[in-house]
Amino acid sequence: MAYVVDFRSDTVTKPCADMRKAMFEAEVGDDVWGDDPTVKKLEETMAKMLKKDAALFVPSGTMSNLLAILAHCQGRGEEVLLGDQSHIMLYEQGGIAQFAGVNPRTLVNKPDGTFDLQDAKSKIRMEDIHYPRTRAICIENTHNAAGGKVVPIEFIQKVRELADSHSLQVHLDGARIMNAAVAMDVTPDTIAQYCDSVSVCLSKGLGAPVGSCLVGSKEFIKRAHRHRKALGGGMRQVGILAAAGLVALEKGIPRLKTDHENAKLLAQGVIDLKCPSVTCDLAATETNMVYLMMGEGVSAKLFYLLCGTVTEGEEQELGQGIQVQLCPVSDTCLRVAIHHHITAEHIAMALKKIAYVDKLFQSGEAAKHLPKN
Ligand SMILES: Cc1ncc(COP(=O)(O)O)c(C=O)c1O
Repeated sequence: MAYVVDFRSDTVTKPCADMRKAMFEAEVGDDVWGDDPTVKKLEETMAKMLKKDAALFVPSGTMSNLLAILAHCQGRGEEVLLGDQSHIMLYEQGGIAQFAGVNPRTLVNKPDGTFDLQDAKSKIRMEDIHYPRTRAICIENTHNAAGGKVVPIEFIQKVRELADSHSLQVHLDGARIMNAAVAMDVTPDTIAQYCDSVSVCLSKGLGAPVGSCLVGSKEFIKRAHRHRKALGGGMRQVGILAAAGLVALEKGIPRLKTDHENAKLLAQGVIDLKCPSVTCDLAATETNMVYLMMGEGVSAKLFYLLCGTVTEGEEQELGQGIQVQLCPVSDTCLRVAIHHHITAEHIAMALKKIAYVDKLFQSGEAAKHLPKN
């Protein structure tokens, strides 16, 4: 049996025993009727943590972001500003255009997940019959496509100032706001204070099997609640999932520090291997993501395929087949996502496999080692 290291995403975790017990024992009721005490408890806990008035439990981060835009943009012909590398822009199927009818106006994301504030200012529309109306600015923290970087508080503060000077709302895709807070050693409300709404995922590094919360003012959540029903996101005896969310908040947040340390351990390990075909940037490894950057002429796709399969002859050479499952990002880059199932042993085994794959590249034999099917 191959040794498997699953680095594909921080969404791949399975509920721990405490979480399953809490789910089993959860008090439930029909949440569409407002009857589920565990959902209420989760929503209250989340609102309190982020020092906002209200929260809404929703099935996914994608729905949460969509609900935020629907609730911020209440008329037709409206627009939001957002990073061109943001999750909302890249990975949510254009849902804000598709379902909310909102025009996404992109700002070029810098490698740290921020964007130029002058550019943002220049893109806010003046009142003119030709233009849509700008309603909100969306930011993301940590920034997924920037490799899990922590977007600095000072930037968020400046986004708030810009938004205030043009009567705009600020929405934070805080799928991993807890990673950002842990990395900065601040409470999450320190980040959320500059935002009108925040979407928080429970099913990423925090380890719940499903669910996100959208937080904001009472009026905002009331509107989002209506939209959730229209999108088919009204769930019934969903306290069993909210119970998992409560355990995720209690047990998952303190664990994130270890994930971040493991990410650094892996990045440093890759650097120490001094492999010509792959390297890492330790300073850029701020939270639970590590980017593997391919060396000159090395195909990320081939590297990915070789890491993910037990190649011929590998068992003899390594004593055991090792599968390191990664997430492709581009032709030159692969992503590692660290989560709470990843231990120091997984990292040691992954490094062993990476060094082995590097050797295949150095011998010029890499392509020959791909499985036939
Ligand atoms: C930054 C960010 N926002 C939103 C989402 C969407 O979350 P979900 O997969 O729960 O829809 C993700 C998912 O990975 C994400 O990374």
